[in-house]
Parts: sequence; structure tokens; C-alpha cells
Amino acid sequence: DDLERLAADIGRADTVVAFTGAGISAPSGVPTFRGDNGVWEHFDEGQFTYGRFQRDPEGFWADRLELQRVMFDGEFEPNVAHEALAAMGRKEHLEAILTQNTDGLHADAADSVSSDSSETTLLELHGNARRVHCPDCGRRTDCDPVFERAADGELPPTCDCGGVYKPDVVLFGEQLPGAVIQRARALARESDVFLAIGSSLVVEPAASLPRLAASPETTVGIVNLEPTPVDSTADVVCQEDVTAVLPRLRDLLAE
Ligand code: OAD
Repeated sequence: DDLERLAADIGRADTVVAFTGAGISAPSGVPTFRGDNGVWEHFDEGQFTYGRFQRDPEGFWADRLELQRVMFDGEFEPNVAHEALAAMGRKEHLEAILTQNTDGLHADAADSVSSDSSETTLLELHGNARRVHCPDCGRRTDCDPVFERAADGELPPTCDCGGVYKPDVVLFGEQLPGAVIQRARALARESDVFLAIGSSLVVEPAASLPRLAASPETTVGIVNLEPTPVDSTADVVCQEDVTAVLPRLRDLLAE
């Protein structure tokens, strides 16, 4: 079947790249952006633009607090799909994980799989929502105390240097860091197998990375509950739950 073909291609490949979106974290309880009860049904993307952060940092931070509550309410743990990818990395089946997610769960899964450091490169294309960043002095720090200060009324929360903290994520209207996106594109082009997992593949760079990867020599696989605009370019499309597909793929590779 399709997964057996994918496993065979991965077994033969030099470079396998996984590209993930909110769908891989949905089984951990993190809401997706689009689709049923998606975050963008409750919020307007315009509330979280870089322009608004600069123009109205107080309003931006008040809304950001709400978003953080909706998205990251409680403790999240990696699920079996994150773990299967981490295990594939341990077995050197996976060169890189490129993720659009800001929840940090791929890093947690890599830590939990083994105490040996994984060889897999992890690129968090949209940053990490567990950190904040001071654009003025460059300081990066854990978000929790800063969100607590904001919740206590310090709006916007500021760094010791006086700069306004910014969530360490890529905001709308903000460019992805050039070096990161170039690395992601290079990995997509180099890949022999490119697996898009749990992403609607409608926004950039998600929409173009699988297309960059696609070539007669590359196997492009898509694992997503819903159809995506890139399905017609893909060699294998699994419209199934990530928690069913990825452990099965890992097991096929271990055979
Ligand atoms: P989306 O919310 O757009 O898409 C998530 C996809 O995962 C949907 O197509 C779902 O069908 C699918 N899905 C949900 N649960 C699943 C499961 N258990 N198994 C398989 N598939 C499942 O999320 P992204 O594509 O990640 O950007 O969104 C891309 C970017 O748009 C985000 O990084 C964010 C957003 O605006 C920024 O915040 C900069």
C-alpha cells in the first residue's frame, strides 16, 4: 500500500525531510488555525501583525495574552506522532524536521526519545511561543514570567533595557529570518523524500516547500486529514490521522 511504498522510499533515501504543521500537535490538545474550531475562527489575524505590535504594543499584548490562553492552555506533551518522527531521527531515517509550529513539542519529543542527541536538524520556521525576545537588546527569555507580568497588568511587558518584549514567533507582516527560510528551501530541494504532515499547506512557505521538493527523483508524501492544494503534486496522499500513520511508518522502517 501507500505507506509501504513510502517506507521503502525512505529506506533507500539519503535525505528525508519532514515538514509539519498544527495538525501534528492537534492530538496533544493544541488547537489548529484552520478547520473545525480553528484559532482563526475566534481571532482575527489582523490583531497579531507586526505593524500592530509596533503601533499599539499594549493592545497587541492584551490580545496575545488571550491567544496564548486559547492555544497553550495547560501542559502539553508530545504525542505518538511527534515520538515516531523523533524515533525515525534516532535511526537516521530523518535528516530534518521543518516545523511551522511554535509549541516546542518536536524538541520535547527528541529529548524524550533518548538521552543521546538526535542527529535530526530541527528548524522552527515560525519561532517558539515559549520564549519572548527583546528586539532592542536581543535578549531571549522564557515566556512564562513575562506573560504573568502582562496578566498582572504590565502592558506591554518590557525588558530591563526598556525594549518591549515580542513573542519569539514570526508575526503576520514579518519576514521569516532569511537564513532559516534559505536552509528550509535547500533541504526541500535536496530531499529524496519530503513528507508534509498535518498542514493545510495554504500559507507561505508551506504552500511552496512541497512544490520545491517535487521532482521525478523525489517522493512527496502528504499526511493530512483534509485535502490540500498540493495533493495533485504529491506521490502519496494519506488522508488519515497523524497518530495512526506515523507510528505505522516507524514500525515499517524498523522491520
Ligand atoms: P492549519 O490549521 O492551517 O492546518 C492544520 C491541518 O491539520 C488541517 O488541514 C487539518 O485537517 C489537519 N489536521 C488536524 N488534526 C489532524 C490529525 N490528527 N491528523 C492529521 N491531520 C490533522 O495549520 P498550519 O498548516 O500549520 O502561522 O498553519 C500554517 C500557519 O498558519 C501557522 O504556522 C500559523 C498560521 O497562521 C503563524 O502563526 C505565523
